[in-house]
Amino acid sequence: MVLLLPSESYRAAEFLDAARALGVDVVIGSNGRFAIADAMAEAPLLLDFEAPEAGAEAIAAYARSTPVEAVVATDDGGVLVAALAAERLGLASNLPAAAAATRDKAALRRALDEGGIPQPRYRLAPPRADIPELAQEVGYPVVIKPVSLSASRGVIRADDASSAALAGATARSICEAAGVPAGQPLLVESYLPGVEVALEGMLRDGDLEVLALFDKPDPLEGPYFEETIYVTPSRLPADLQEAITKMTARAITAIGLTEGPVHAELRVHDGDVRMLEVAARSIGGLCSRSLQFGFGVTLEELILRGALGLPQRERGRTWAASGVMMIPIPRRGKLLEVRGQAAARAVPGIAGLNITVAPGRDLRPLPEGDRYLGFMFARGPSPEEVEGALRAAHGLLDIAIE
Ligand SMILES: Nc1ncnc2c1ncn2[C@@H]1O[C@H](COP(=O)(O)OP(=O)(O)OP(=O)(O)O)[C@@H](O)[C@H]1O
Ligand SMILES: [Mg+2]
Repeated sequence: MVLLLPSESYRAAEFLDAARALGVDVVIGSNGRFAIADAMAEAPLLLDFEAPEAGAEAIAAYARSTPVEAVVATDDGGVLVAALAAERLGLASNLPAAAAATRDKAALRRALDEGGIPQPRYRLAPPRADIPELAQEVGYPVVIKPVSLSASRGVIRADDASSAALAGATARSICEAAGVPAGQPLLVESYLPGVEVALEGMLRDGDLEVLALFDKPDPLEGPYFEETIYVTPSRLPADLQEAITKMTARAITAIGLTEGPVHAELRVHDGDVRMLEVAARSIGGLCSRSLQFGFGVTLEELILRGALGLPQRERGRTWAASGVMMIPIPRRGKLLEVRGQAAARAVPGIAGLNITVAPGRDLRPLPEGDRYLGFMFARGPSPEEVEGALRAAHGLLDIAIE
């Protein structure tokens, strides 16, 4: 198996553990050195994820000397290379056009429109566009965002013309700092009120299996959208959960995705469900650790099994409820220390705590920031208890920043 692992990925260990558990030989394709077990390793197959055709060609060349049975992208960055390589090798995979639509928020909006999927009204803002004018057209409040970044970087809400102009300028400078090509547009979208959920699913031949539906119990109202708590199962009424699943399945069909993991984000307001986005990857960061299926089967093992066409294992939940907190970055500065970790770990229900930024490193909150301070995991008999454990444990952390 070729595993496409961006050098900034959090997920090397989980995927490599899953491959080991299945006895699969893995060759890693990456755009640089990648982190594994606190060390940096050299990728055997160097690929530029921004040059997908060349990346796919490199994998196809590799496959001429070593048989390859699957190409799996661990994160968003590799999904298009994986689809193009799989096409060359005749492996089951998403069509490249479908994978590409999930990598470009403008293309995704167009695909969802064509499928008649309810979503924000939107306009594309090319480099010198009048952003307040476009915002006026979609109607305030609006959300302004880059089309190709992730982790809510550069995603900014604006409620009037002057904040829209400022948000546009800020989003553009974030794009520039991130190395986004100069001509790339921004999206100006209508702000969808309501609660947000994330659906974690697996596709096989176009059929969607829902693995988990997460509530995001902290309000995400902007101006920046820092993710914090995810808890599953959802506490939304069953009919709404069903509507969410159906809409996600329709969106997936509209985009043309057919294989592998999907991560969808939706908003629900007054009983109406609307699609924010669909990614052709699994949940990001270390969040997959909050999901434990059957007899300790990880999400990564499910993904590898799917890609190799291996039979899936039973998916009974080990815990009635589970959750994760992406630990918020309270302010800008140099991280000195995170105190109170032992006390946080000792809170009943807390199953793990990983601080993923080393002391001495700079912390940048949103809208610029692109790293999480860390991840905390909880499990328990109910979503309420899981959420309570995460909040209690977070309250015991003392994040010292200079
Ligand atoms: N049109 C909108 N209306 C309301 N909220 C929005 C809208 N667009 C984005 N958001 C909020 O901003 C968050 C991040 O936006 P989006 O998913 O588009 O960017 P992203 O960088 O892909 O984030 P991630 O990588 O975390 O999925 C969303 O999860 C949501 O909370
Ligand atoms: Mg998103």
